[in-house]
Amino acid sequence: MCGIIGYTGNRQARDVIISGLKRLEYRGYDSAGIVIGNGSIQLVKDKGGMANLESILPEMKGQYGIGHTRWATHGPPLKKNSHPHLDCKEEIALIHNGIIENNMALREELIQRGHKFKSDTDTEVIVHLLEELYHGNLEEAILKTVARLEGSYAIAAIHAKEKGKIVGARNISPLVVGIGKKENFLASDVPAILEYTDRMIYLLDEEIVTLLKDEVKIMDFQGKPVKRNWQKVEMNIEGAEKSGYEHFMLKEIFEQPDVIMDTFIGANLNTENGYSLNLKPDTIKIIACGTSYHAGYVGKYMFEEFAHVPTTVEIASEYRFSSITTSNPLIIGVSQSGETSDTLVALRIAKKRGLNTLGIVNIVGSTITREVDHVFYTRAGLEVGVAATKTYITQLIALLALAIKIGVAKETLGIDDARYLSNQLRKLPKHVRTILDGSEQIIQLAEEISKSKSMFFLGRNMNFPVALEGALKMKEISYIHAEGYPGGELKHGPLALVTKETPVIAIAVKDQTYEKMLGNIGEVSARGATVIGIGTEGDTELPKYADHVIYIPKVPPLFTPVLVSVVMQLLAYHVANVLGCEIDKPRHLAKSVTVE
Ligand code: AGP
Repeated sequence: MCGIIGYTGNRQARDVIISGLKRLEYRGYDSAGIVIGNGSIQLVKDKGGMANLESILPEMKGQYGIGHTRWATHGPPLKKNSHPHLDCKEEIALIHNGIIENNMALREELIQRGHKFKSDTDTEVIVHLLEELYHGNLEEAILKTVARLEGSYAIAAIHAKEKGKIVGARNISPLVVGIGKKENFLASDVPAILEYTDRMIYLLDEEIVTLLKDEVKIMDFQGKPVKRNWQKVEMNIEGAEKSGYEHFMLKEIFEQPDVIMDTFIGANLNTENGYSLNLKPDTIKIIACGTSYHAGYVGKYMFEEFAHVPTTVEIASEYRFSSITTSNPLIIGVSQSGETSDTLVALRIAKKRGLNTLGIVNIVGSTITREVDHVFYTRAGLEVGVAATKTYITQLIALLALAIKIGVAKETLGIDDARYLSNQLRKLPKHVRTILDGSEQIIQLAEEISKSKSMFFLGRNMNFPVALEGALKMKEISYIHAEGYPGGELKHGPLALVTKETPVIAIAVKDQTYEKMLGNIGEVSARGATVIGIGTEGDTELPKYADHVIYIPKVPPLFTPVLVSVVMQLLAYHVANVLGCEIDKPRHLAKSVTVE
C-alpha cells in the first residue's frame, strides 16, 4: 500500500512530487522520500510522514523525479528502509510498491557478486539487479530485471545519465500514467496526479512504461510495443482516494482478495522451507480485543485441528484478572494497530509471567511488535475505515499459516497435508471474489432487514466467533443492536427475544455443525423470525429451512470463516449504507483504542 509518484516536464518536479505524495497519505506511510534528477541524483528521504520530509527538504532544482511514501511490510520504518533506494554507484534511483517473493534468494546471489545492501527491504534487490543489467538504456535494463522478479510490484526508476526519463513497470500492484501537455506523470493511484491531468492510462500486469515529457511508450514483458489510449477520469480527488467506492470500508472489503494473497506470500507458505518454524508450544493462549478477539477465537480451532495444541482465547482486558496458569502457554496477541492498550498491557503481564509471546500485527514497528518475542505481520496495508475488515481477514490467514507451520514443526501435520492446505489457501482470493461479485443479493437482503431494531447471528464451532464478528460489524456501523450466539445456546434464554421483528442470520455451511444448525433455523422460524442462511454452494436442503440463502464456495471447513466473514461484512455495510450511517467513522469509536 505504498504511494508512488513520478513527474517529467517543464515544472519544478519537487513541487509536483510533494503535492502528489501528500495526496497519497490515505494509503498510509511511515517514511517518505524523493529523488530529483538534473544530471545527478538528488535524494532526500527519512522515516516519518510528509510533514517531516517537507521540514528537511532543501531547494531541489530539476524537471524530473520520483517520490514514495512507504507502508512498511519488510523491515521497520527507518531512514535506511525508506525509498527511493540507490544502486552502489548512486546513478539509479528506484521506488517500489508490493512484495518481492524471491527477495531473499536474489539478495544472497547479489551479495555473493559483491553488492552491498544498505536496507532490510525486499525492494533493494531490484535496484542492485538494475545496476548489473544496465548497459545505457533504462527500459531495457528494467525489461531484463523484471524477468528475475517474483511477486507483486509497481516500480519506477530514473538514471542520472538519462535526463528527463522515468521508467515504470507493473505486476499486480497498480500503476497509472497521467498524460499532460509537454509533461507526463506516473503514480500508484489517481489522486496523486488528478490536480494536473484527468487523462489516464492504466498499466496492466507485465507492462513497462517509458516516460519523457513529450512521449509515453508502453511495452510488455516480452519487449513488444503496446498501444493504449488514455481514458478521462470523471471522479474528484476525494472519490479517487476511495478508488471510486462510496466509503473506504467498501474499498477495503474489495481489497481483501489482494491482501489475502500478500499475507499468504508474506507467510512464505509457497516455498519449501516455508513450513519451518522453531515454535512447538504445548498450549496456546490467544489474547485480543474486539474484532481481533474474534479472529483469535477462530484461530483456536485452527491450532487445535492442525497442530493438536490445546488453545484458549481470552479478552485482553480480562487477562490481567485471570489466575496464573500452570501450563506455559505460547501467548499470541492479535492486534491490527499494534497499539491497543488492553492487548499491550496483557502482553506485558504475560512477559512478566515469563511466557513466550508472539504478536500478529498489521503495522510494522508498532509498540506491540517491539515488545513481543516473535512477530507475524499481516499485510493488509493501511485500513482507513474504523471497522476492521481486511485486517481481520488477514489475521485469519496469518493464524491459518501459523497453525500449519506449528503443525509441521510438531509433526502433527504431514508435509503433504501442509502443501494441500497451502494450495487451498492460494485459491481463497478467487473464492472471496466470487462472494464480492454476488453483492447484489446481499444489497437486497440488507434493504429488507435494515428497519429491524435487533437481530441475531448464529453459528457453531469455528463459525460461532464468526457470528460474534458479524454481530459486531452490524452494531458498530449500522447502530442496530445485534447479538452473536452459539446456535445451541438460543433455547437457553435468548429465544425469548425472537419474534418476526428479529431477523436471524444463521451460518449453516456443510460441516459437522450443519444438521444442528438446521435445527436452530427451525427453532427461530417457528417463532416467526426471518432467517438468512449462509450455506455451501450446491446445498439444496438449506433453502427448505431458511427464507433466504447466501451461498459461499465449497472450501475446507476451517477456511469457511474467511468466506462467511466477507458475507457478514457486506451485509453490515449495506444495511448501514441504506440507513445513511457515517460508515468510515462510526460514532464514539476510534481506529486504535489506546486507553484502557
Ligand atoms: C473492529 O471493527 C473494531 N474497530 C475494534 O473492535 C477493534 O477490532 C479492536 O479495538 C482491536 O483493535 P486492534 O486490532 O487494533 O487491537
